[in-house]
Amino acid sequence: MCAAEPPVDLRVELAGLTLPGPLVLASGIWGCCAETLARAARDGAGAVTAKSCSLQPRAGHPNPTVLDWGAGLMNAIGLANPGAAAEQEILRQARAALAPLGVALIASVFGHTRADFAAAAQLVAAAQPDIIELNISCPNVEGEFGRPFALDPVAAAGVTAAVRRVYAGRLFVKLSPNAPDIVAVARAVADAGADGLTAVNTLGPGMIIDVRARRPVLANRVGGISGAALRPVALRCVYDIAAAVKLPIIGTGGVSSGDHALQMIMAGATAVGIGSALYGEGSGAFRRINGELAALMRQEGIARLADVQGVAHG
Ligand SMILES: Cc1cc2nc3c(=O)[nH]c(=O)nc-3n(C[C@H](O)[C@H](O)[C@H](O)COP(=O)(O)O)c2cc1C
Repeated sequence: MCAAEPPVDLRVELAGLTLPGPLVLASGIWGCCAETLARAARDGAGAVTAKSCSLQPRAGHPNPTVLDWGAGLMNAIGLANPGAAAEQEILRQARAALAPLGVALIASVFGHTRADFAAAAQLVAAAQPDIIELNISCPNVEGEFGRPFALDPVAAAGVTAAVRRVYAGRLFVKLSPNAPDIVAVARAVADAGADGLTAVNTLGPGMIIDVRARRPVLANRVGGISGAALRPVALRCVYDIAAAVKLPIIGTGGVSSGDHALQMIMAGATAVGIGSALYGEGSGAFRRINGELAALMRQEGIARLADVQGVAHG
């Protein structure tokens, strides 16, 4: 007879929500419709993030928009989305499908002004997601140089405060690894009223050239880097933020195994975002990564993820 395996508990507490597991579908990869959000939940995501939406619909960039270049993905989707009003219905349907599973729903909004962010957030709030995430990696057209909000602590805090004024629910802000000082941005949005952070969005932009065509592969020429190449950068960002800011973090960037997920938790994340790993594998990646994580926890004698959250800080 085999000895009974020690029990492991994959549940995590994220900003007052109990998630059935630590893995979170990252925005933009599968979250375009209620059916794919629900499928990710059925396959083992503890929370799912919808595709980022803006106040007005956006067509995005022409194809090709995503490239697997061997060490990750490069994408220039151009934030194509149906607009926040249409997104409401997607979120309502997703919420109904997720509720029996106990899986949390995260809506994601972006804009080019503080007012656009606030208006989009108000629209998606009507669908009652568990969390609204602000994707601040887009240009601030009110700023002097139109730099992304995410690069500047003052701009990032301004947009967080603008949404906080109109939305009393759980508010997460998604940070960029391109920020010259990501910890300063994290501190600023925490002071402006964020309840949590998602770290990180894509790195770059980068470029790959097709030498036969003699031009960049992506129609947009450049795109954001995600997947394996981003992982060490994302992990360092999570580690630095966790040391400085006492907000829950969804550690995101290049995670594709149970070992990678545990590294994020040990760096200080409460939950772990999964994006590019789904690209080739589909949402079955959630089940596989959960299985690997549980096996690793058994091997290491870890009963609950909270027991090792942030342990890498010593
Ligand atoms: C094809 C694609 C589309 C994405 N779209 C969005 C988006 O709409 N909003 C957003 O906040 N992040 C978006 N991201 C960034 C991911 O949510 C994630 O932060 C990033 O890819 C790093 O995680 P990963 O390495 O696990 O993919 C997108 C990434 C990819 C690859």
